[in-house]
Amino acid sequence: MSKSTGTTYDLVIFGATSFVGQILTQYLFESYGITGEVRWAIAGRSESKLSSLKSDLGTGAAELPVIIADATDDKALTSMCEQTRVVISTVGPYALYGEPLVKACVETGTDYCDLTGEVQWIRRMVERYEDQAKKSGARIVHCCGFDSIPSDMGVYFLQQQSEKTFGETCQDVRMRVKVAKGGLSGGTVASMINIAKEAAADPKLRKELANPFSICPPEHRSKVRQPSLKGAEFDKTFNAWLAPFVMGAINTRIVHRSNAMQNARYGKEFTYDEAMMTGRGTKGRLAAYGITAGLAGFFTASAIKPTRWLVEKFVPQPGEGPTPEDQKAGFYDIRFVGRTQDGKTMITKVTGDADPGYGSTSKMLGEAGMCLAFDIPAEQPGGFWTPASALSDKLLERLTSKAGLTFEVLETR
Ligand SMILES: NC(=O)c1ccc[n+]([C@@H]2O[C@H](COP(=O)([O-])OP(=O)(O)OC[C@H]3O[C@@H](n4cnc5c(N)ncnc54)[C@H](OP(=O)(O)O)[C@@H]3O)[C@@H](O)[C@H]2O)c1
Repeated sequence: MSKSTGTTYDLVIFGATSFVGQILTQYLFESYGITGEVRWAIAGRSESKLSSLKSDLGTGAAELPVIIADATDDKALTSMCEQTRVVISTVGPYALYGEPLVKACVETGTDYCDLTGEVQWIRRMVERYEDQAKKSGARIVHCCGFDSIPSDMGVYFLQQQSEKTFGETCQDVRMRVKVAKGGLSGGTVASMINIAKEAAADPKLRKELANPFSICPPEHRSKVRQPSLKGAEFDKTFNAWLAPFVMGAINTRIVHRSNAMQNARYGKEFTYDEAMMTGRGTKGRLAAYGITAGLAGFFTASAIKPTRWLVEKFVPQPGEGPTPEDQKAGFYDIRFVGRTQDGKTMITKVTGDADPGYGSTSKMLGEAGMCLAFDIPAEQPGGFWTPASALSDKLLERLTSKAGLTFEVLETR
C-alpha cells in the first residue's frame, strides 16, 4: 500500500528549473496556490536557480518550500522522497539521469510520474524495479506528457465509448495527428539524440525498439502483426496523405502496456498505430515525403559522431524552448478510428489548448501528479503502470476540467 499520510508534502516537482519544470511550477502556483490544501515543494540541484524561479513567480511565492537534491545523490533523493507522497520528475534525458530517483521512490514507497519517452529506459526500470515497487507500494507512471497521455487516454476514451455504444471494444485503432502546432525544447532534442546514439551502438537495442510489445509483460506479447507506417501513404478514411509520427515509437508501446495492465480489455488481437496527416493533393504528398526524409536524416545524423555535432549545433540547447507566445498560440487535434471485429466503426477526436510539448504537457503532467496524490485509492497496488491503467477516469476528468483537453465522439457507424 502506498503512503497516505505522515509526509510533509503531497507533491514535489524534481527538476523545477528545467524548461518544462518552470512552466509546470507556474501552472501549479496559479491553479492551486501554496497556502491551500495541496502541500507541495520544488526541488533541483541548484539553490540559486530555484530561488530565482520563486522570484519570477511573483508575490506570494516566497513561502514555496525548496529541496536541494542532485540526480546522482542517493542520500539526498531518499530524503526528498521521505518528505512527500508523490514526486513529479522533469530531469532528463531520463536514460542519463533518471534511475537513482526511480530507485529511491521504489525503496521508499513514493508515487512517481515523469515525462520520459525513452522506451529502452522504461524497460530497464521495469526489469530492475517492478518487484520492489509491488512490495513497497510505489506507483510508477512514466510518459505523462504529450507522449503519451493524448494517445493513451484517447484510446482509453474510444474503447470506453465503444463498449457503451457497441457493447464491445474496437480490435483495431488508428491514431492520426491532424494538427500539432508548437516547438521543440532542448531537453526533448537531447533525449531524441541520446536514443539515436544508444541504438546506433547496440544492435540488441535496435531490435528491442522495433518490438511494439517491448514493455509489455511477457505473457502479453501478442503475435498479431502491428501496422507501422514507414513512409508516405494515402489514408482513405481521412482523405489525406500520411507521414510517420515521431512520437508513435513510444506512444504505441504505452498503449499496448495499458491494454496488458487492464487484463487485455482492448482484446488479445488488438492492433494500434499512429501517423501524421499532411493534407491532400500534391502539397500533402510532398509534405509526407519531406517529413519521412527529414526524420530519417535526423536519426541518421544523430546516430554517428561525425554528424552529431552538426545536429546539436542547430537544435535548441538544454533549457531552451518555445516562447510563452508560441506556447499559447499552440494547439493540437488528433483523431482516432476504431473498428470492432465485425466492422462497426467509431471516430473520436482529442484536442489540447496549448502547444503539445510544453504548455499542454506541463498541465497534463501536473494533473497526473495531482491524480496520483488525491484521486487514486491507497489500496491500488504498487508497480509500473501507465496513465490509462493507473489513473483512468479520474485523469480523464482532470484533463477535461483543468488541463484544457477535450475528448469527443465524432461519428459511429
Ligand atoms: N513527454 C513529453 O511530451 C515531453 C515534453 C517536454 C519534455 N520532455 C522531456 O522532459 C525532460 C525535460 O525537458 P526540458 O526541455 O524541460 O529539459 P531541460 O530544460 O534541459 O532541463 C533539464 C533539467 O534536468 C536538470 N538536471 C540535469 N542534471 C541534473 C542533476 N545531476 N541533478 C539534478 N538535476 C539535473 C537540470 O537542472 P538545472 O536547471 O539545474 O540545469 C534541468 O532542470 C526531457 O527528458 C524531455 O525529453 C518530454
